[in-house]
Amino acid sequence: MIVINTIEELQIELNAHRRDGKRIGFVPTMGNLHQGHLSLVDVAKKHADIVVVSLFVNPTQFGPNEDFDSYPRTLNEDCKKLEGQGTNIVFAPAKEEVYPKWPNITSVTVAELDKNHCGASRPVFFGGITTVVTKLFNMVRPDCAIFGEKDFQQITIIRRMVTDLNFDIDIIGAPIVREANGLAMSSRNGYLSQQEKDHASNLYQTLLWAKSEIEHGRQDFRQLEKEANQKLDDLDFTPDYFNITNQDTLELAQADDKKLVILLGCYMGKVRLIDNIQL
Ligand code: PAF
Repeated sequence: MIVINTIEELQIELNAHRRDGKRIGFVPTMGNLHQGHLSLVDVAKKHADIVVVSLFVNPTQFGPNEDFDSYPRTLNEDCKKLEGQGTNIVFAPAKEEVYPKWPNITSVTVAELDKNHCGASRPVFFGGITTVVTKLFNMVRPDCAIFGEKDFQQITIIRRMVTDLNFDIDIIGAPIVREANGLAMSSRNGYLSQQEKDHASNLYQTLLWAKSEIEHGRQDFRQLEKEANQKLDDLDFTPDYFNITNQDTLELAQADDKKLVILLGCYMGKVRLIDNIQL
């Protein structure tokens, strides 16, 4: 495995692999890796010959009062984990490499899909993601890119961006990886004690409960959302949203929608957690 910090070096390396007819798979991350990220590397290995993982905490997707400064940066540990997982190239650029002119005044926005759910309380979030992912796609020029389904709204937006902007890149979704207690793996779980993690597993239980209500015939989705929010409130979470949505449009689902996804975002103390479940 090699660790590369500059775009020039990255492209020299990747051009050589392309000339040899190798397929490039790309896993963009913000580092502080856990088993969920490593599962993305496994998926990439199935779809590509050369796996590139980027480690870059992207400033443009954090709002002014969010945890950009305190977001854990764990380059050495991340590299060890990635090497053990069979990664070929780690791309760990500095902020100046990704955003040579700061502040950046060019951005990519996927309208409509970025308004609700996480987008409602994090107005700059998805614009920052689509901008940096576009830049990373242009730097890596992968054949395929792997995104976790835990960030369901993110992968939906990226798919739409790739279609709308004619990126010739296959976007592959990888299933959520959960702790034994059901808690979805997330870098932000690192902010929680074991006891808090156990309590946070109630988020998944609430999703399972709502899924089972729907599978048993309930179609009063708005009422079901209210009940779920109440359950979360009673458990001392501060729910941001609990939305039963259409899987393709991410609009609030109606009774005749067939493919659903329940999206959940909430705070446990100051820690923001998200999860979802597909039906
Ligand atoms: O999912 C993430 O970790 C980030 O949003 C991403 C895609 C690496 C962009 O910074």
